Amino acid sequence: MQFFLDTANLAEMRAAKAWGLLDGVTTNPTLMAREGGDWRAVMQAICREVEGPVSLEAVGDTADELIAMGLDLVRNGPNVVVKIPMTPEGLKAVRVLRSKGVDTNVTLVFSPMQALLAAKAGASFISPFVGRLDGLSQDGMQLVADIMAILRNYSMEARVIVASVRHPRHVAEAALMGAHVATVPFAVLRQMFDHPLTSAGLEMFNKDWAALNG
Ligand code: E4P
Repeated sequence: MQFFLDTANLAEMRAAKAWGLLDGVTTNPTLMAREGGDWRAVMQAICREVEGPVSLEAVGDTADELIAMGLDLVRNGPNVVVKIPMTPEGLKAVRVLRSKGVDTNVTLVFSPMQALLAAKAGASFISPFVGRLDGLSQDGMQLVADIMAILRNYSMEARVIVASVRHPRHVAEAALMGAHVATVPFAVLRQMFDHPLTSAGLEMFNKDWAALNG
């Protein structure tokens, strides 16, 4: 399973890299806006920092707009994956970008049918947003299970990125389902290290070691 970091923050990427846990990065306009500054320079710095795929989001209403922005985005680095919204125009753009050898990540996926359409259009990655579905009292991880089953049924190549991750349990369930990638906010990645019994056990071992040497 690959871990992507869902961030545009370079310091977070460097920390994840030091743990050997940075297989790629996903960004979106909200994450880019949070970083501020010159977005093009930020994108280029991210592409230099990360060895794996970096998803940069194209914004536009028409396929032509999305294609034009996608072709501009890939100039930021050799590892760019163009994020395309799950719309009819978006899927037209996916087909054209694929024909030009550009990898795409279809984003804002909330149903199994949307995922099937994206896979048939030739998306390299598909991003179901589990946390936002959970927020509507729906079952985000069931969506991932459904998508994985559909892709397996037809041996489709698209890889699933479990997105909108809110807590480590989302990542654990994604791994149990065989999802290819989880893209996690840095805070969730950090949380994944922790267990109260690890902390309590460590505290006791340290205390006993100190007593032994006291
Ligand atoms: C994925 O590629 C998105 O950037 C991200 O996971 C969105 O999640 P959010 O619901 O935390 O905004």
